[in-house]
Amino acid sequence: MTLASSRTAGRSCRLLRARGAFSHHLPSMHAASPPLSRQISMDAQNLTARLKSSGLLRSQALIGGKWIDAYDGKTIKVHNPATGEVITEVPCMGSKETNDAISSSYDAFYSWSKRTAAERSRHLRKWYDLLIAHREELGQLITLEQGKPLTEAMGEVTYGANFIEFFSEEAKRVYGDIIPSPLADRRLLVLKQPVGVVGAITPWNFPLAMITRKVGPALACGCTVIIKPSEFTPLTALAAAELALQAGIPPGAVNVVMGNASDIGDALLASPQVRKITFTGSTAVGKKLMAGASATVKKISLELGGNAPCIVFDDADIDVAVKGALGAKFRNSGQTCVCANRIIVQEGIYEKFADAFSKAVQNLKVGDGFSEGVAQGPLINEAALHKVESFVQDALSKGAKVLLGGKRHSLGRTFYEPTVLSDVKSEMLISREEVFGPVAPLLRFKTEEEAIRMANDTNAGLAAYIFTNNVQRSWRVTEALEYGLVGVNEGLISTEVAPFGGIKQSGLGREGSKYGIDEYLELKYMCLGNMTGN
Ligand code: SIN
Repeated sequence: MTLASSRTAGRSCRLLRARGAFSHHLPSMHAASPPLSRQISMDAQNLTARLKSSGLLRSQALIGGKWIDAYDGKTIKVHNPATGEVITEVPCMGSKETNDAISSSYDAFYSWSKRTAAERSRHLRKWYDLLIAHREELGQLITLEQGKPLTEAMGEVTYGANFIEFFSEEAKRVYGDIIPSPLADRRLLVLKQPVGVVGAITPWNFPLAMITRKVGPALACGCTVIIKPSEFTPLTALAAAELALQAGIPPGAVNVVMGNASDIGDALLASPQVRKITFTGSTAVGKKLMAGASATVKKISLELGGNAPCIVFDDADIDVAVKGALGAKFRNSGQTCVCANRIIVQEGIYEKFADAFSKAVQNLKVGDGFSEGVAQGPLINEAALHKVESFVQDALSKGAKVLLGGKRHSLGRTFYEPTVLSDVKSEMLISREEVFGPVAPLLRFKTEEEAIRMANDTNAGLAAYIFTNNVQRSWRVTEALEYGLVGVNEGLISTEVAPFGGIKQSGLGREGSKYGIDEYLELKYMCLGNMTGN
């Protein structure tokens, strides 16, 4: 990801698998569907009209509760990645508008942070209810501007909304501490207070969930937010912001600015009023933000790139491993930071796994996300496709073999065939960097030690997956993996109740879960003296 490019409402089980996310596509992907171009434009037109009438198709930025254009009138086009068609135009803003958003967020902080936790919680709950009530339109909007299959997009809406619900509950649990005092006349306390104005820079691959994962905890504890969504997917952000206003979240508490990424980023970094930056995107941009945040010593959370190993041991259940690797690799057409980037298979099971996995991948139907049964949508743009092509080319030139796919899809433009490569080696580009596309490279290993060494041989440390039926091995290997998240016999592990985040160069801090709110809080030590007097 780069800065520029960068789950029904049931409330019991919180793992993606249970929410109609990617894995629901797995069983039947062969169904025939209407001709692609006809269906797309029909859906896009109907959708645009419906979203306009529901007030969810916003094409202005939100500053201080007002929908506004760029001060100089500049706009950026938002495209449907499946067709290249322009959906609409949104303001192309810069530092002036960002500074106004900062001022309005700063003013709103004073009153929002003073509200009781119960009040903030009720507003967030209302926002959650609205997101769920508009799940279908939001899902369609995600498919329209991001490309992922509609079922997966609706899964993202539930996943994204769950962060708001979870943090509406956590809002009431921001407890401080009382520390036993070493001196009889003193009482020592720890207060937890909101950090202040937060700049949230979010990516295109999850246009809703990466926003709610940041804004939920921020608002819950009393912070106010300026969201800078990806210019590729601003419409979902604007629709979510509209619903936040409808939920009674006060003007200025949630602002959305979009446009020139570096001007907006620089303005957020330069302002002493912005006390925290939270970013999901590329490691390169994350490093720049980290350096930039030093000028005003801001708190920073970074959710950066991964290079996830998926280790399949000889003792794995082959069906479980194939299903898990398929989900871990092909969710969102391979465009997630936790997508399996290297499938490292033990020599005794390699051929069998390669064969079964390739058959499963062959069943993934490629097409426009609005078409029935589609499991693999387009890539976000042609630059992403060129990157995938160059990674495959590099691997083939160094001895990798194509088991499946390996080229552009006949649909053209942004569509790439789901691909499986064998004989991939650790030195190849595809093993070193995130491919961010539907290509599964298979690597071979002999021993557990070798698998761990191969898996850890990267600067990234976000997600890892292991498939084994040996419980001791699952513990041993999990402990040895230098990663923030480990899936054992499971390829879809993201949920709002568990901490998401990386180690090494995959980032700083955790999102979601009870830990996620700490990123938006400051600790204040209070010492009460003279406590023995009458
Ligand atoms: C990401 O790709 O950054 C997020 C993926 C997830 O939440 O599972």
